[in-house]
Amino acid sequence: MTNLQGAVVLVVGASGGLGSRIADQLESKGAIVARSSRSAGHDLREPSVIRQVLEATNSEHGRLDGLVVASGVVAFGPASELEAATVDELFAVNTTSAIQLISQSQPYLATSAEDGREPFVVTLSGVVAETPVAGVAAYSASKAGLAAFVVAAAREYRRAGIRLVDARPGHTGTSLSEHPIAGSAPRFGEPLDPDHVAARIVTAIVDGEKDLPSTAF
Ligand SMILES: NC(=O)c1ccc[n+]([C@@H]2O[C@H](COP(=O)([O-])OP(=O)(O)OC[C@H]3O[C@@H](n4cnc5c(N)ncnc54)[C@H](OP(=O)(O)O)[C@@H]3O)[C@@H](O)[C@H]2O)c1
Repeated sequence: MTNLQGAVVLVVGASGGLGSRIADQLESKGAIVARSSRSAGHDLREPSVIRQVLEATNSEHGRLDGLVVASGVVAFGPASELEAATVDELFAVNTTSAIQLISQSQPYLATSAEDGREPFVVTLSGVVAETPVAGVAAYSASKAGLAAFVVAAAREYRRAGIRLVDARPGHTGTSLSEHPIAGSAPRFGEPLDPDHVAARIVTAIVDGEKDLPSTAF
């Protein structure tokens, strides 16, 4: 069991449908949540923002015990019609910035482990990382890249007492697909309830789970 009482958790993408719910639920379990989002001035396509957000959280709260990467963008449309700028933004936000957040948070989280806490990182790649989908090929690729990084990095971080968990829910009823950076969303089946998805992720944090495949939702 991971005790969230007094744990300092940075939630990136905290203005989003899932990030806001995860942040609220972590707070309800006693965590001290630092919320970061683009609308609060933190554009993750700026590499310096990642260091700033981590340093600001650590200097305000004195440590970092958890990181939830709930930021992301989606794009729809045929693979043959992808604009280079769309691919760049998908990978910058969904893959590169998430990897940088995990990489640069390691020293803070390692200190948390040395202090006897149970630090963790949660990413949200999604079911497309397991089963890439036609019409969202670049989004699928950006998420598969993140998921692969987490699997490998988790083995390294475990040695420092840090747990990495990738969550791969299916289509969830937030507004993500209503504001794509390109294209427009196809008809989806019945979405997952975002409250349920957020609660499942917070349960996994508390229970010390090591992976959240699509079947967990
Ligand atoms: N909804 C789904 O069906 C689903 C399924 C599986 C996985 N996921 C993944 O779960 C995560 C959260 O999705 P969601 O449904 O909560 O989407 P959402 O409501 O659209 O939230 C996306 C979040 O990402 C932030 N963001 C986007 N571009 C950014 C940038 N350049 N710099 C910093 N922040 C940026 C947004 O910030 P602002 O609002 O401030 O711009 C917002 O907080 C995403 O990674 C998504 O791919 C979603």
